[in-house]
Amino acid sequence: MSEAVVFRRVRAVDPSRDLDREVDVVVEGKTITRLGPDAGKDLATRERVRVVEVRGGLLLPGLVDIHAHLREPGQEYKEDLRSGLLAAAAGGFTDVCAMPNTRPVNDTRAITEMLVHKARALGGSRLHPIAAITIGQKGEALTEMADLKDAGAVAVSDDGHCVTRSDVMRRALEYASTFDLPLIQHAEDHALTAGAQMHEGAVSAKLGLRGWPRVAEDVIVARDVILAEYTRARYHVAHVSTLGAVRILREAKSRGIKVTAEVTPHHLLLTDAALIGYDTACKVSPPLREDEDVASLREALADGTIDCIATDHAPHSPLEKDCVLDEASPGMIGLELCLPLMLGLVAKGVMTLPRLVDALTRSAARVVGLPAPTLKEGAEASLVLVDPARSWTITPAVLRSKSKNTPFLGRTVEGAVVLTMVAGSVVYELDVHAAGGA
Ligand code: DOR
Repeated sequence: MSEAVVFRRVRAVDPSRDLDREVDVVVEGKTITRLGPDAGKDLATRERVRVVEVRGGLLLPGLVDIHAHLREPGQEYKEDLRSGLLAAAAGGFTDVCAMPNTRPVNDTRAITEMLVHKARALGGSRLHPIAAITIGQKGEALTEMADLKDAGAVAVSDDGHCVTRSDVMRRALEYASTFDLPLIQHAEDHALTAGAQMHEGAVSAKLGLRGWPRVAEDVIVARDVILAEYTRARYHVAHVSTLGAVRILREAKSRGIKVTAEVTPHHLLLTDAALIGYDTACKVSPPLREDEDVASLREALADGTIDCIATDHAPHSPLEKDCVLDEASPGMIGLELCLPLMLGLVAKGVMTLPRLVDALTRSAARVVGLPAPTLKEGAEASLVLVDPARSWTITPAVLRSKSKNTPFLGRTVEGAVVLTMVAGSVVYELDVHAAGGA
């Protein structure tokens, strides 16, 4: 066991302290003990000191995903805690929040506690359960939020389903705010989306498929913003997908209402045109929209109207995806692809690297009240080392997730996670010999 790990001559990027420079970072035990130019040079030659040096390597605070579906309990054939947390570590995520639409739904202290204990025993990336807002995610009776928070839930959400009833939403916001729990809404007026397979627009008309209109998201976000202002609760919108929702959020924030929002990599990268071949891998909820939505989401992420990026990692097996579009389940995996895909947007100038890092670390953590990941001396050593120049091809064989449902299979990306560390322990390391790369 090494006494210390020295990351030599890395480009450390930590927006929480305005840091973007070439330094050495030294980890001793669970803690970052030194950070500065050549700060580890004297240690580097000592025995029992591990030196990690990657030419041009980026060292970032540990990434936080506030929206993943790890499918345990109940659908372990798609994913389980072990595979999901390994996929998270391989994607650079030290902390992952798991959505409650499991079987059974996580609407009780017992399930929340089981998840916390099981994940802790696995000892890799950390799991933070999100519990349901309503019992069984049925949109009616509220869960026992005090109990859920006490058991370890960091937020409540009926994700996959919307809380459509205004009276339930009002009470849920009031109740959640008593315990300072953020409430995460899946904004979809189900009455407007019955039978929908994709975004409603010219492409759905051409394909003859029933569409999910933008307004189904917008009317819920608009109503909820009004309720959030009235109740003064912490309200967060999951996977924002429309330009209308962005406009409403921008106005709400300018008026000081406590709203936050996330966007997924797929809504930043793809449009409904991806469905032209009826590819079930591109069926997601909310659906992929149009160019103008993508442009507005990118702008909102860059200017902070959208706080953070979340994967909405939604593993499904061939049973749910190798079928006709209207029978396919919505969702795509994201934990292992998020960082390289988003680095691609930085390379294109859509956002700066510090803003990307902020959106995947501090701003994400803030939404669910987790401590802000940072590279400060004295801070816990939870971090990720990335080789931004290493290209690799996304194939089923390289993915740790049990499910391979992503339209990005076959794509070559630049940027690979080399090492992920949680509280001083290495939880993932790229096998540079096996990884091949392009
Ligand atoms: O695409 C999605 N898949 N969106 C959701 O809201 C739920 C998720 C799932 O659980 O598969």
